[in-house]
Amino acid sequence: NLIESGSVTWESPSNIALVKYWGKKKHQIPENPSISFTLNECKTITTLTYSKKESNDYFSFEVFLEGKKKDDFKPKIQTFFERVEPYLPFLRDYHFKIETKNTFPHSSGIASSASGMSALALCLMSVEKLYNTGNTEEFSNQKASFLARLGSGSACRSIEGDLIVWGKTDSIENSSDLFGVKYPYKVHENFKNYQDTILLVDKGEKQVSSTVGHNLMHNHPFAEQRFAQAHNNLNTLKPILETGDLKNFIALVESEALTLHAMMMTSMPYFILMKPNTLEIINKIWRFRQETGLHISFTLDAGANVHVLYPKKETRQILEFIKNELVVYCQNEQYICDQIGFGANQI
Ligand code: PMV
Repeated sequence: NLIESGSVTWESPSNIALVKYWGKKKHQIPENPSISFTLNECKTITTLTYSKKESNDYFSFEVFLEGKKKDDFKPKIQTFFERVEPYLPFLRDYHFKIETKNTFPHSSGIASSASGMSALALCLMSVEKLYNTGNTEEFSNQKASFLARLGSGSACRSIEGDLIVWGKTDSIENSSDLFGVKYPYKVHENFKNYQDTILLVDKGEKQVSSTVGHNLMHNHPFAEQRFAQAHNNLNTLKPILETGDLKNFIALVESEALTLHAMMMTSMPYFILMKPNTLEIINKIWRFRQETGLHISFTLDAGANVHVLYPKKETRQILEFIKNELVVYCQNEQYICDQIGFGANQI
């Protein structure tokens, strides 16, 4: 007795890693643990419309981005459906219309895979809830994260907030390689409402996809050291988060960002995703921090954009500095003011 048709809508945020995930095993299992701030403003909003179909020997779906048909998204979603089908046995019974949009400019170099894949996973979980009505919210969130991981690794950290750990590590209780968990320990006031102003340095297509990048960690000369370092950094971060130690927070987070890019530069083949303006911005941030003693820092994703991180109470001075000194390095002077958020919502 299949439900004939219906539709669900979820909005799901992006996230920014403090300790980076770079390198994976089979089945989207991370080589090392990571932790991220969930974002608040950068989101994907996805409506999934499902209608029962006759034949169930194939997947049937169509994808629209801001109302325009996007056939080039289909292979990624086909792969996602193949991976999640064992956990969502109804997938072939329906035709799906996936309508999606982002709150941030597309092709801004901001990865929409975390917000996009988590939004789609949550929509599919809403369909599955029609059949499994007894699930607790905790179970549903965990399963949504598990499914999102199979779409894009970092997407499993976007279901909830505000700090999410993904990857089994001794220092974090209940951490798992299979899904993200909420950071389970005390976090100091200093990190409440932490700000992330994203400077859009380069909107161009990435020359190297993150899939290729993760794979280059196989046989990478520094891989084992790097994976061990990520475990250590999560352990080191615990007292930092508890005591509100901004100085050491900054050191750890910036080192993680540069290490991520160092891994790219030392793989074979090697590549560089930073642009000259990325380095200009980093140097300006360092100088400003030295001159003012304010707690401004940066982190990077797998791209040229710079995430400028700072505590809420320093917003006025730091935002003024960003507008006066850093925005000139952005493409079309584009930047996005974001902050820590609390995860996805059904609408
Ligand atoms: O989720 P993926 O496969 O696109 O990998 C993203 C990896 C980084 O953004 C570079 C780091 C991270 O932990 O988010």
